Formats: sequence, C-alpha cells, structure tokens
Amino acid sequence: MLLTFLPVLVATVPLAAASAGYVHLDVSKRAASNPSLVRRQQDFQATLTQNAGLEYLVNITVGTPPQNMAVTLDTGSSDLWVPSTSSKPCREGKCDGGEFDPSKSSTYNIIDQGGFNITYAGPGDSDAGNWVEESVTVGGSSTLNSTIVGVALDGADQHGVMGIGYDTNEAQPNPSPNGSYASVLDHMVSQGLINRKAYSLYLNDLNETTGSVCFGCVDSTKYTGDLVALPLQQSAPEPGQDSTAATTPSVFYVTLTGVSFIDASGAETTLSSEDYAQSVVLDSGTSEVLINNEILSGLANGLGAVYVGEQNYVLPCSYSNTNASIRYTFGGQDGPSVVVPLSEVIYGQVVPPSDMPGHSSGGCNMGISGPIEGQVILGDTFLRNAYVVFDLDNYQVAMAQAAGGQASTSSLVVIPTGTSLPGVSSTATATGTQLDEAQANAIATDIPEATGNAVTAGTPTFVLGASATASDAEASPTGSGSSSSGSSSSSGLAPWVTPAPQAAFLGAAGLVAGAFLL
Ligand SMILES: *[C@@H]1O[C@H](CO)[C@@H](O)[C@H](O)[C@H]1NC(C)=O
Ligand SMILES: *[C@@H]1O[C@H](CO)[C@@H](O)[C@H](O)[C@H]1NC(C)=O
Ligand SMILES: *[C@@H]1O[C@H](CO)[C@@H](O)[C@H](O)[C@H]1NC(C)=O
Ligand SMILES: *[C@@H]1O[C@H](CO)[C@@H](O)[C@H](O)[C@H]1NC(C)=O
Ligand SMILES: *[C@@H]1O[C@H](CO)[C@@H](O)[C@H](O)[C@H]1NC(C)=O
Ligand SMILES: *[C@@H]1O[C@H](CO)[C@@H](O)[C@H](O)[C@H]1NC(C)=O
Repeated sequence: MLLTFLPVLVATVPLAAASAGYVHLDVSKRAASNPSLVRRQQDFQATLTQNAGLEYLVNITVGTPPQNMAVTLDTGSSDLWVPSTSSKPCREGKCDGGEFDPSKSSTYNIIDQGGFNITYAGPGDSDAGNWVEESVTVGGSSTLNSTIVGVALDGADQHGVMGIGYDTNEAQPNPSPNGSYASVLDHMVSQGLINRKAYSLYLNDLNETTGSVCFGCVDSTKYTGDLVALPLQQSAPEPGQDSTAATTPSVFYVTLTGVSFIDASGAETTLSSEDYAQSVVLDSGTSEVLINNEILSGLANGLGAVYVGEQNYVLPCSYSNTNASIRYTFGGQDGPSVVVPLSEVIYGQVVPPSDMPGHSSGGCNMGISGPIEGQVILGDTFLRNAYVVFDLDNYQVAMAQAAGGQASTSSLVVIPTGTSLPGVSSTATATGTQLDEAQANAIATDIPEATGNAVTAGTPTFVLGASATASDAEASPTGSGSSSSGSSSSSGLAPWVTPAPQAAFLGAAGLVAGAFLL
C-alpha cells in the first residue's frame, strides 16, 4: 500500500534460528476483507459478487505476554501498526487478524497519545491512534524491545500492517524529531538477527495459500534463471521540489523497460512503446498491477475486456485456462524478465454467468488496471510470479522468475554485511522516469464499458487457444463466448462498480489512490 504523503522504527525474540542471521516466515494469502470498499452504482442491474481482492499476511506478536496478530506484509509503507481492542472495527467483532489489548501488556508505553495517523492511497483509508513503544516478535524471532508501533483506535482497516520499506517513508508525524524512527527492520539489524536491511519475498502462485518472506536470506529453490540486480530509481519530485535535486530513494521504484503479450501459440507482441522506461513501485500491499494506460488499452482490447467502473476490468473467467502470458522486462538490455501466465492474472468471479452473455463461466477480475494518483505499481498480480530481494541498505532490488509451488527451506543463504547479494552476479542499470502530469491524468478511453444489465465481453484479437473458451462453449446454450466487440460505451459508467481494488498502496507518503491500495 502506498502512503498518501511522503514522509524511522525498532525490535524481538530469537527464533530458533536467531543466530542464523536470518528470520524466515510464512506469508499467508487470503481474500481481502474490506466490505466497505464494495460499492455499486444505483443504475447497475447486474449482481456483483464479493470483492475478489487478495492480500498477504504474516504472524507477529505485540506486547508482554505476547499477543498474536496477523498483519498485512507491505513493501509500500514503513510503519507497523495494530488495531486496539477498543477501536470501532474490533468492538464490532471485525478484527480478523487479532486485536491488541494494551491493558494486558506489561511493556506497553505510550509515547505520543493521538499522534499516530497513517493515510494510505485508498479513498478514506486511514488509521489513527497512539504511538507506543512495545515488545514485538516476528516469525518467532527474539523479542525486539521498545519497538515503535502505531495502535489504531480509529480507522478503516480490520487488521494491522507491517510496512517494510524505508524509514524515510514513515507516517508523519511520528516520535522521531527528524521524522525517521527505527523500524522493525532496524531493530532486527541492531539486535543481530540479520546482518543488513535486506529480505526476499516469495508470494507464490495464485493457487497456493502460503508463500514466504526471509529477512536476511535468499532461497535459491524459489526462483529459476539468474537473479539480476536493479538500482532503485528516484521518487517523483514533491510539489515545488527541483526535479534535478538528487534524493535518496525512499520507495521501491525500479525501471520497467518492456511489457509484452505472449499468446497461446507462443507469438509475442510488444505492448509498451519504443524506449519505454517507466519507474514502477514494487508493492506487496497493492493487490493488482496498475500500468500505463497505453499498455492497459492494448491488453484490454486484445483480450476483449470490459470496463465496469472504479478502475476494474472484467474478462470471461474461462480465459484463465488459456496458455497465454504477459512478460515484464526490467533494467533494459540484459535485465531480468518475469513471465506471468494469464491464469495468475484473471481471478475471482465478480460477475455471475447470468449477467455475462455467452460465458457460462461468468466474469472475473482482470488483475491489471490503470495508474492511480500518478503511480505505476506492480502489485500482487505481478509479484506472485517474481522472486524479489529487497536490499534497502544498498538501494537495489534483485529479481528473477519465481519457481511456483516451492515450500522447502533447505537452501537458505544468509545475506552478509556489505553490498553483495547471494546468487546475484549482474546489474541492469537503465534509468526510469515517472509519469508526467498528462500521462498521470490520462484515462484509457477506448475500452468498452459495461452498460445496462449485462456485461458483454468483446471479441479477443489475441490468440487464446481453444482451452480459453472450451468450458464456456460446452456449458452455454448460446455457444460462443464473445458476442459483441466494443459494446457501445454509451451512457457512462459501468453498471456495476466492482469492489474497489484492494491493492494496497499502503502507506507511503504522498500518494493517494483508490482501489487496491493499502
Ligand atoms: C498464523 O497463526 C495462525 C494461528 O496460530 C495459524 O493458523 C496460521 O497458519 C499462521 N499463519 C502463518 C502465515 O504463519
Ligand atoms: C487522519 O488523517 C486523514 C488524512 O489527513 C484524515 O482524513 C483523518 O480524519 C485523520 N484521522 C484522525 C482520527 O485524525
Ligand atoms: C529485552 O527486554 C527483556 C526484558 O526486559 C530483557 O531480558 C532483554 O535482555 C532485552 N533485550 C535486549 C536486546 O535488550
Ligand atoms: C533520525 O534520528 C535518528 C535518531 O533519533 C537517527 O538514528 C536517524 O539516523 C536519523 N535519520 C535521519 C534520516 O537523519
Ligand atoms: C497449482 O497449479 C500447478 C500448475 O497447474 C500445480 O502443479 C500445483 O499442484 C497446484 N497447486 C495447488 C496447491 O493446487
Ligand atoms: C504454453 O506456451 C508455452 C510457451 O509459449 C509453450 O512452451 C507450451 O508448450 C504451451 N503449453 C501448452 C499446453 O500449449
């Protein structure tokens, strides 16, 4: 999740492997819970089912004795916060990740009453309360004493977040006079659990329930090919800031240099423009990919997707059976590329078959939409197929194609102090630019919109193969899927507005946005 406004933490208990130099823990995938994000326009007649966004949680403990909590693992923000038992969502029984009861902790120490307020990029998505110092454990680690934690008394979210970005992106104001307090990652380093601020993230395939994160280690069983390093790119200048002023990266921006579609016959079509070099955020707290509108248009039209409002695009669910995929290339020549099968991108039935003529499989989310608040974000519909090492100390990430379905922990290699990363032998250095104002404000206008009381898919121009439509054809009396291409995008908005995206651009300062952001 990205923060809406740009803006330091601390840590501990040793895990069995405390002295091992790393902290490895499972990340669990589940449907995002935020019904308040589900809205529908009045004039839309079709039935919209539950928001299909997914999110990734880790188990931590806060307090003494330890209270168990599941929190969103978020590379797009930098604060750890948990909901208080006395907050509204918890009082209503909605705190599905557990709740923190300060009265039951002997180490609870308020340091700024009412001073905590984090605002994520989703509309109305903020959480506020007290800054406190507490004892924290992560994945059975030793206790991180006197860690700064936000305790929410008020807010939109039903469970907490552990931001694992830069200290310079922490919510403001915060307990540090210079705006940067020691984060959980800093505590892990200062207590000797890990050698430097670096971790690897493996969300795992869409059909798997558990991925992993390793603070301080790289796992060679979880990727294929080579890990290639990418230097982090600068953030967009703040209003009034000189665009040439050199600043230190505070968000995980890397340079995306190509996006292409590989159809079911294996033919590859480039969707990005020539010389494309876009700074994109790697954000586990955003559930989807938010991509440049030209690329989105090419993809949506090629697939016959329909816009249903609120930055959501829908496709027949049967298309998830195609053997087609999207390739993302980074850093220019010799940079890493990650191939994401469409089966990993199309998910969650949000339109019932009765409202999707010719498609007995109904309509599913296309987990890719346009930029929000000027941000191009590679969230979970990209990250599931990538293995990414985030090296905060050296302002770089390393990336490779993820190997799906891997659970073994037999090949963990500790990340040492210094600058080297295990498994990395090359760097791809192309620089990226941020969206300019016109690009940021552009809207993909040429994608058909849903109208009336049905969602009519267009005719794909990409070769998707028989598997993409087979199940629809069999089950549907009217046979063929796509009936009309480009349903007249007449009257305005899609009949039904789907769930606001869950993406989570949690946190980071300066950005605000809609759906799918934490
Ligand atoms: C978190 O803890 C719960 C309750 O102990 C457990 O069921 C779940 O599997 C744990 N999840 C992860 C990702 O470790
Ligand atoms: C937190 O900040 C947001 C954005 O400025 C604001 O809308 C919200 O009211 C604040 N919450 C509290 C409890 O102050
Ligand atoms: C954390 O606090 C506990 C309890 O006071 C203490 O035993 C332990 O030594 C402290 N750990 C560190 C690293 O200071
Ligand atoms: C901010 O102050 C803390 C101590 O309170 C210090 O550790 C940190 O390095 C400072 N950060 C910056 C960016 O100056
Ligand atoms: C996920 O799908 C892959 C490929 O289709 C398959 O090999 C794997 O067993 C599946 N995993 C689960 C948990 O179903
Ligand atoms: C799917 O596509 C890949 C790459 O285009 C190809 O190697 C593979 O054989 C295809 N699989 C099927 C089942 O068509």
